[in-house]
Amino acid sequence: MNSRPRILTGDTPTGSLHLGHWVGSLENRVRLQDEYECYFLLANMHAFTTRAEKPDEIRRDTIEIVKDWLAAGIDPARSCVLLQTEVPAIAELTWFFAMLLPFNRVMRNPTLKTEIDSKGLGDKYSFGFPMYAVGQCADILVFRPELVPVGEDQVAHIEMCREVARRFNQVFCGVDPKTEDDDYVKAGGLFPIPMALVGRVARLAGIDGVQKMSKSLGNAIFLNDDPATVKKKVGKIFTGRQSPTEPGDTSNALFQFVEAFITDAARVAELKDRYSRGDNIGDGHIKAEVTEAINAMLAPMRERRAQFDGPAGEKMIIEIIRDGTSRANRLAEETLWLAKQAMGLDLFPRTIDLGKAR
Ligand code: TRP
Repeated sequence: MNSRPRILTGDTPTGSLHLGHWVGSLENRVRLQDEYECYFLLANMHAFTTRAEKPDEIRRDTIEIVKDWLAAGIDPARSCVLLQTEVPAIAELTWFFAMLLPFNRVMRNPTLKTEIDSKGLGDKYSFGFPMYAVGQCADILVFRPELVPVGEDQVAHIEMCREVARRFNQVFCGVDPKTEDDDYVKAGGLFPIPMALVGRVARLAGIDGVQKMSKSLGNAIFLNDDPATVKKKVGKIFTGRQSPTEPGDTSNALFQFVEAFITDAARVAELKDRYSRGDNIGDGHIKAEVTEAINAMLAPMRERRAQFDGPAGEKMIIEIIRDGTSRANRLAEETLWLAKQAMGLDLFPRTIDLGKAR
């Protein structure tokens, strides 16, 4: 292995990724693959916390999300793509971490609360649903990463993970609670206190121009949309502006897209200037430029995605996950053993003899 600092992050397989995911996190992951040793987790266990009765969908979505990742530029030769349910150390650490977090602390997690509302879970959610937030602490810490690139909505989870890491280090590794976050490992702790890294656009608007881009709100432009679909959807971005000479609001949804996707900074400045003055520039014209910029960005993704089409593509993807998971397990098992040593659970190293079972 090498000594680059590590990244862990992941997605729950719930469907295709969209532009909000790209600017919020995915872009960072692709960019940081050389500087960091990267672990990208498929949170299929988490998918079961709200969709346990739909295993076929979860399986399909798991494969689809890997397609999105590979198309976006995640390189399986450099980074590990791993399947949560095949890294047993995660499930074991989840139990231990559950004992370090007060129940009420978990239930106060604002991301969980928001999800209970937005998914209409009421009081009908499974026991496993709030447990996933504890599980997420284990997803992260089992890889002892320094950085966790995530969308803004995940920051509350990372904060809880940081609390667990501090607690574990204090309780089982004898680290002084007054230690600075950066110094926990130096002070004898097992886990670094990982930092969230939020993308350059924390919250991209959806094409409805009001809510944030989200698959469930039906306002998303997906990374796998074809050029014509992108054009049609960008055409729908709502601004409420009436004419090319009406002074426009450059903080509206359309201009979020201008700023996020038009790469020529001088052109962005010029568009903003003319728009705000109502200098004979129509929304339609700006939308055409935005469409072009998004399609230019998506073109190489479409090309990469094509090689994973069909049953042969699916086979390749499963091989990529298998290989990444096997590499991830080496590190995960090492962490679990170190954690057990710290907890006095190292009576003997584990051996599981499956005999002729397989
Ligand atoms: N909860 C995250 C989401 O729904 C996915 C996730 C699971 C994750 N485990 C993680 C993200 C660990 C970052 C780190 O998007």
